[in-house]
Amino acid sequence: MKNKFRDYPILEAKGKSIPIFYPHIPKNAKKSVSKVLSTRWIGQGPLVDLFEKKFSNQFCDGMPVIAVGSGTDALHLAYILGNIKKNDEIICPVFTCTATNIPLLYIGAKIKFADIDPKTLNISIESVERLITKKTKAIVFVNYGGILNNLDKLNQIAKKNKIILIQDAAQSLGAQYKNKSITKYADFTIYSFQAIKHITSGDGGALIVRNKFLEKKGKRIRWFGIDRPKKQGGTWENDIREVGYKYQLTDLGACLLLDSMKEYKKIKKHRNSIYKTYLKNIVQNNKIQCIQTLDKKADEVMWLFTIVSPYKDILQKKLREKNIETNQVHFRNDRYSIFKKFVKNKSFKNMDFIQNKYLVLPMHTKMSIIDAKRVSLEINRILKNID
Ligand SMILES: Cc1ncc(COP(=O)(O)O)c(C=O)c1O
Repeated sequence: MKNKFRDYPILEAKGKSIPIFYPHIPKNAKKSVSKVLSTRWIGQGPLVDLFEKKFSNQFCDGMPVIAVGSGTDALHLAYILGNIKKNDEIICPVFTCTATNIPLLYIGAKIKFADIDPKTLNISIESVERLITKKTKAIVFVNYGGILNNLDKLNQIAKKNKIILIQDAAQSLGAQYKNKSITKYADFTIYSFQAIKHITSGDGGALIVRNKFLEKKGKRIRWFGIDRPKKQGGTWENDIREVGYKYQLTDLGACLLLDSMKEYKKIKKHRNSIYKTYLKNIVQNNKIQCIQTLDKKADEVMWLFTIVSPYKDILQKKLREKNIETNQVHFRNDRYSIFKKFVKNKSFKNMDFIQNKYLVLPMHTKMSIIDAKRVSLEINRILKNID
């Protein structure tokens, strides 16, 4: 079809424009990268080890960390280490970045999509409970936009049914639940350090596991199936017994992450201030609602600010005219052809209701609190003019 509207092209970041995302580059980045470039290790070297140690202490209450090349790598590795096999039933969020679900297609697992909770856009607990069968091997859940899923309830369900819990925390770096790292509430937790996440190495990720056995196995699979410390120590027997791949992070990426981790408190404060500014200034009524955190036991750091409005298209268009970029970011996964065989005769009532109404507003460390106020006031003005 000719000229059919699909989406707005990326907004150029210049002048007073407010792009939806912008990478956070730590102050010391150029110096650190340049230092790495003058060493022997630019691929996976000692800085990756150092990153894993520091990341574990700062964000994972000391749990083992496997640094990888992306959040998608971390998910794939989690599914392998979770022993997910062909035809195993896996309960997954219907609304997420496709990276959550795509690795399961490589394995040949049976995806059982769960509907969303319309208040948080996270996986709905009722929907999860309805999908559990004797064949359910794992539940995969996402903390959408930084808002934690119901971790207590998911843990109860998993324990009762002897199911593995896999937490896609790509959007909730550094969050805590009841004063503990969220990594304590799942068998596997993944993080993403893709360009627009809280901290970034351009692309990168981490998988957090529960024990040393899985850590060692994960680190072998990260490197073709080779025990790298043994190989580098000259004691490897020169045999590969398990199928691995190449999922590693590089020292170039690790140096950026190490610098960003030092700035994490500031990043968290800024992102949460933008979140609070939107909440305080956007007038919520029957024309617009904000997706917000509800759980008092959660200490979160926001990654997305999402509104729900029947006037989503008008809002997006009018904001764009003011050089403010908004987007839906993620789309329901059941509509993608690659998942077609899992969704025949399935319905997702809450997803159906919200699919054309949600919209993500700008949030990043390059924008100011005044920018967030400007976006909020524009939204109020646009909606006020609609009868
Ligand atoms: C919820 C979620 N899961 C997984 C990913 C995949 O991470 P990556 O892009 O680092 O592979 C992302 C981000 O891209 C994400 O937002």
